Amino acid sequence: MVEERNDGKLNALSRRKLITAGAALAAGAVTSGGVLGVAPGMAAAGENVNVVVNGKEISGPAQIVKGTALVPARPVAEALGASVAWEQGTKTVKITGGAAGVAAAPAWPWPYKKLDPEVVAQKGYDGYYKGACCYGAFNAIVSELAKVVGFPYTMMPTDMFRYGEGGIAGWSTICGALNGACAAINLVVGEKDVMKLVDELMGWYTTYQFPNFKPVTPKVDKELVTNAAGSTLCHVSVTNWCKVSGYGAKSPERSERCGRLTGDVVKYAVQLLNDYTDGKFAASYLPPASIGECMGCHGDKAMNNTRGKQDCVQCHDLPNPKPPHK
Ligand code: HEC
Ligand code: HEC
Repeated sequence: MVEERNDGKLNALSRRKLITAGAALAAGAVTSGGVLGVAPGMAAAGENVNVVVNGKEISGPAQIVKGTALVPARPVAEALGASVAWEQGTKTVKITGGAAGVAAAPAWPWPYKKLDPEVVAQKGYDGYYKGACCYGAFNAIVSELAKVVGFPYTMMPTDMFRYGEGGIAGWSTICGALNGACAAINLVVGEKDVMKLVDELMGWYTTYQFPNFKPVTPKVDKELVTNAAGSTLCHVSVTNWCKVSGYGAKSPERSERCGRLTGDVVKYAVQLLNDYTDGKFAASYLPPASIGECMGCHGDKAMNNTRGKQDCVQCHDLPNPKPPHK
């Protein structure tokens, strides 16, 4: 019989058979003497067992007793980041802290390693057809970082970005590919410089001739017309492309255009991140002159009645940029 002594150590046992007890704390009941009972699977009664917590073998005895695998509480709990105390008087094993084997996320920003922009672009395109633009963009960068860096990216649920489809649930506000890519940039670039990179990506988006990315096996295998999105808004970006291409907003061609655009956006985002990592990041986007002109009055202390970096004259088609604008 396995017994825990009041110094917390356990008596040694000899023969052992392998089980995995990754979730032992959650699944097992604490039985007499600070031993966790877990369902034994294939192991036969009386056989001793090995215990592996998150890939690491735990030293200390474990065995099957009456159909239950009894494993030592202390090394299992400690391997999961908890501490164990034995109260002799009440014969109680006290396990405190520890989050069932899940390590805490490190502080923002997370470590970045240079990625291959072409690989990420293809992933962005593929992801678009699984969970749309925003998911496609975020997932492309973060799942690639999960491969290259590993933890903590391995614990990031990229599905959280599915909401961004169609400029957020079809509202046609911010382009989802931008939204997802900016979130990924934000994850890996700290407070000091994140806005500079995001600003560059947003501005670049308004002038770039989309779509340019060539998928390995396109879902819609056609040459597609390119144009400048003109705006970071899904509405403007999609509608202007529909106008120049002649395809409808709900056509497979328009979807294909946005899939390839997702590839283009993450490719540039990764180029920016790689340059930033090499200390070579330089912004290239120049805002249209109208913004400075309009904001000279509307953004100043006296008027202070609007904000933003979007091309004002695109929406405000004023006959005269100076008041009374008539
Ligand atoms: C010299 C300062 C100045 C500049 C430059 C300027 N505005 Fe104005 N704008 C005004 C003033 C003053 C009004 C009137 C405000 C009021 O009556 O409340 C106004 C009104 C407006 C209005 C609301 C009323 C209307 O006439 O439609 C819009 C929209 C507007 N401006 C957009 C713009 C845009 C876009 C630009 C750049 C192309 C621009 N403004 C440049 C000073 C300026
Ligand atoms: C995507 C389109 C869009 C862009 C780009 C845009 N605006 Fe507007 N703006 C609007 C809309 C829509 C309103 C609300 C108009 C209304 O309700 O009459 C508005 C309102 C305004 C008003 C108040 C108008 C009033 O009647 O008093 C001002 C001033 C203004 N915008 C200035 C600007 C300036 C300056 C810029 C550039 C930095 C800009 N806008 C960019 C769409 C836009």
